[in-house]
Amino acid sequence: MEYLVNSRQMKMADQYTIQEKGVLSLTLMERAAESCVRVMDELGMDLSRPCVVCGSGNNGGDGFAIARLLAERGKEVTVFLVGNSSSCTEETKHQMRLLKETGTQILEGYEPGDYSLIVDAIFGVGLGREIIGRYVQVIQQMNEADAQKFSVDLPSGISADHGAVMGIAFQADVTVTFQTTKLGLALYPGKRYAGKVFVEDIGIDLTKAEKDSNLTYAYEREDYRKLLPIRRADSNKGTYGKVLVIAGSKGMAGAAYLNAYAAYMAGAGLVQIYTAEENRVVLQQLLPEAIVTTYDLYDQGELLRLLKWADVVCVGSGIGTTEKARKILRATLENVRVPCLVDADGLNLIAAHKKYLDALSVDDLVFTPHMMEMSRLTDLTIEEIRSSRMDVIKSFADQHRLTCVLKDARTVIASKGRKASVNLSGNASMAKAGSGDVLSGIIAGLMAQGMEGYQAAVLGTYLHGRAGDLARERKGTYSVMARDLIEFLAGAWNELEE
Ligand code: APR
Repeated sequence: MEYLVNSRQMKMADQYTIQEKGVLSLTLMERAAESCVRVMDELGMDLSRPCVVCGSGNNGGDGFAIARLLAERGKEVTVFLVGNSSSCTEETKHQMRLLKETGTQILEGYEPGDYSLIVDAIFGVGLGREIIGRYVQVIQQMNEADAQKFSVDLPSGISADHGAVMGIAFQADVTVTFQTTKLGLALYPGKRYAGKVFVEDIGIDLTKAEKDSNLTYAYEREDYRKLLPIRRADSNKGTYGKVLVIAGSKGMAGAAYLNAYAAYMAGAGLVQIYTAEENRVVLQQLLPEAIVTTYDLYDQGELLRLLKWADVVCVGSGIGTTEKARKILRATLENVRVPCLVDADGLNLIAAHKKYLDALSVDDLVFTPHMMEMSRLTDLTIEEIRSSRMDVIKSFADQHRLTCVLKDARTVIASKGRKASVNLSGNASMAKAGSGDVLSGIIAGLMAQGMEGYQAAVLGTYLHGRAGDLARERKGTYSVMARDLIEFLAGAWNELEE
């Protein structure tokens, strides 16, 4: 299991290493600088005219140490301090003195020039607020330079906690980060600004940080393999659960189809679709394996019978937000006694009737909102969610005692009382209509096989993204359709089973 740390956890690890393990912070700085220069060498970066731009914190200290290592090799390094020399940390002041002893000058501010490589060491995990004033112009000019770009630990301007751009950010080709990946390097847009990321072991002890209850996981192949539901030889369709898909309204048969087909392809034993009468024929033709029950005028008695039949309910995709849809959703939420997943219009309806959130009584409930749906559910703007998404999703999951899968270029998953996780599979070819319906179907299909909602969400989100990666390999970036994600699911499963 990989951990993605926030700035607080990283500082905790730094302090623990220095104070409890007795490693000098100057030693860590030296190792950090050495690892940066080693990566530059390994990548064959152009060190003929290097420029190092340092801030006053310890990230700047790393930068001055890098400049010294380059100067000791006879390189003519241009070094800038952006910020106030009086506010430099003791370590950074020490590094400045050592650098000066090599005869290298430290210039104030930043001057554009003919640099082959720009090293950004202005801010690392200590960035605490929006970047304003002279820093903005400096980062802008650094970005405009026709040079290779390298960031120390984290591109300046990227929030280590959320990957958000704090006003402006340095666009790196390469980032060397220390000891473990920061959340901000895994989440977008931070990931995009970081370029290629190298994680270097410099001897920071993470044991204390790993115990933090707010730690975020990034599952790896072996972790997913452990989650795979068992398929026994002496089993039958009843073993793998019955999914009730309540989806699709007039003109939205596709949502029900994608939900139900994905649930089957995720391994569910039997899928029944409850949808508008208009969708009956097309759904039976598209997916003869599914039972199709339809409504014209909504009949609560029929819905209650179906809810009793199901082992898992997947409700909301394409149901619309009409009065009829609201009644169906409300009756479902009030009467469902089995694990339940709510998606799309189901979430929109809940957002429009927030009191439904207080009445949720299912033990295992999964919500799969995209950013806009999350915004409606929380009354926060998308910007507000993006700039504090881990906190937003965790408190939402805790408050409503459910599992929340917040879909975005990097989907994050949180569950009441559990550690949050970030899914690292998937790509931009999946940004298309129907992709979310496939995800909810997959997760419901996994829940039908007895998986707990949180684990089904973790595994399902990975499989969905991985299917997208395999689909892109075959069909290219532009032409992947939602239904391809279902077809390529087989490949994603096979890789895990190997
Ligand atoms: N604008 C101006 N100054 C800021 C801003 C901002 N938006 N945000 C933070 N600062 C200032 C802080 O007041 C502090 O002086 O920047 C400095 C902190 O920057 P960092 O160097 O990132 O933080 P620090 O904790 O000193 O060092 C952490 O050191 O271990 C290395 O590179 C590693 O990222 C890590 C870094």
